[in-house]
Amino acid sequence: MKVLSVASEAFPLVKTGGLADVVGALPAALAPHGVQTTTLIPGYPVVGKAVKGAKVVRRWPDLMDSEARLLSARIGEHPLLVLDAPALFARTGGLYGHADDWRRFAALAKAAADVAEDFDLLHAHDWQAALAPAYLRYGGGTARSVTTVHNIAFQGQFGADIFPELGLPDAAWGIDGVEYYGGVGFLKAGLESADAITTVSPTYAAEIRENRFGMGLEGLIEARVSRVHGIVNGIDPAVWNPETDAALPQRYTARALGRRRANKRAVEKMFGLEAGDGPLFTVISRLTWQKGMDVLVHCLDELVARGGRLALLGSGDAPLEQAFLTASQRHAGRIGVRIGYDEPLSHLLQGGADAILIPSRFEPCGLTQLYGLAYGCVPVVARTGGLADTVIDANEAALAAGVATGFQHGEVSYHSLSHAIARTVRAYSRPDLWCTIQRNGMRADFSWNESGRRYADLYKSLIA
Ligand code: ADP
Ligand code: GLC
Repeated sequence: MKVLSVASEAFPLVKTGGLADVVGALPAALAPHGVQTTTLIPGYPVVGKAVKGAKVVRRWPDLMDSEARLLSARIGEHPLLVLDAPALFARTGGLYGHADDWRRFAALAKAAADVAEDFDLLHAHDWQAALAPAYLRYGGGTARSVTTVHNIAFQGQFGADIFPELGLPDAAWGIDGVEYYGGVGFLKAGLESADAITTVSPTYAAEIRENRFGMGLEGLIEARVSRVHGIVNGIDPAVWNPETDAALPQRYTARALGRRRANKRAVEKMFGLEAGDGPLFTVISRLTWQKGMDVLVHCLDELVARGGRLALLGSGDAPLEQAFLTASQRHAGRIGVRIGYDEPLSHLLQGGADAILIPSRFEPCGLTQLYGLAYGCVPVVARTGGLADTVIDANEAALAAGVATGFQHGEVSYHSLSHAIARTVRAYSRPDLWCTIQRNGMRADFSWNESGRRYADLYKSLIA
């Protein structure tokens, strides 16, 4: 079975978040199940550099008003296609947020639909790729299609004025097509047009049927619910494994957790923290409302008063960045903050901190709690989406059954999060208990085995 996986980012070539990790891991996750995955991503400058000298396999003289070429390369051991269209993708600044994003990602989607004739199935990830199933549907393509929602908060909504430029037939302008609240909705179009919809955890698949989480698309999800599947993300053991991780000063296993101490010392040094054996929390996150970071800001005095310390790595909303920096000045030596994006440092934090805080208001899957589990960095999470599905709260029943892997809290509020922090600090003060929770997490299975099989089964059912 040949699948074309289309996305706006893929680790290790280009990454701004969890989407890249998942798109980068899928080819290896699917291969054991008889699926050969080819990944298609835009030719941003960083990607172009990485695939220098790649073969040109197709040309478009006029793809959404730009000249474009398709380059054939490899991502790890797997086939990669790069849409080389400098007018669209050779930009300075971020990957997203350009005035003509609609044109850039319509081009990606159109190219994908053109190329899909060589594949059994096209798998589109998030809004940037989601117009591809619509191009397939209205262009009479034969490949089956899947749209995966990694985050329904990002929908790719644009004005009606762009519709004539998309090159879709008039029939596509309708409630069951690309039209969305009077404009064009890229994600909406992909959800209407694909043969199946997936999202990245079973709980999020249920949540997006409700208006609290569906962000306006709950009606569509409900209407197509028999085609909606929640498949939880796995982690790539070649990238995230404390036994082999080159970013760690000291590697370790579940049997030798004492070795984490050297990593903790390294974290303290990097973040200007007092050295100590008390509980060291970390945050590795976009600093946004989704991630509950505004609530965490209010809990910091309490975290410190309870004897905790915090090493935070993140970037995002300017007021939140400022609030964490201010707290780090107020609590010098107890709170250390790095504003920015740093892949190796994120590994060190997982390998050296004791617990990772993830108080998200919604979380389709979340990967940092999975990395935390694998690294013995105990996750403290809000009970939502994939966080609810992957972390087992250390309540009495779970402890007695020997399955607890972290701490959950209900609402994302000052009281609820403070309480979770207090529970975590208490558990940390009992070394045997803490070590059991760490080991339970490290021994849990977050590989792609089961989820890879579920995607493959879904693909097969669509092609049959
Ligand atoms: P989301 O994709 O919603 O941001 P996920 O938890 O799914 O959340 O994925 C986030 C990914 O980005 C993880 O791989 C995490 O380690 C990484 N990450 C987030 N912020 C940073 C940062 N400042 N530096 C390095 N890696 C980061
Ligand atoms: C999105 C979600 C996150 C998920 C990631 C990968 O960025 O916000 O929860 O883990 O996609 O699927």
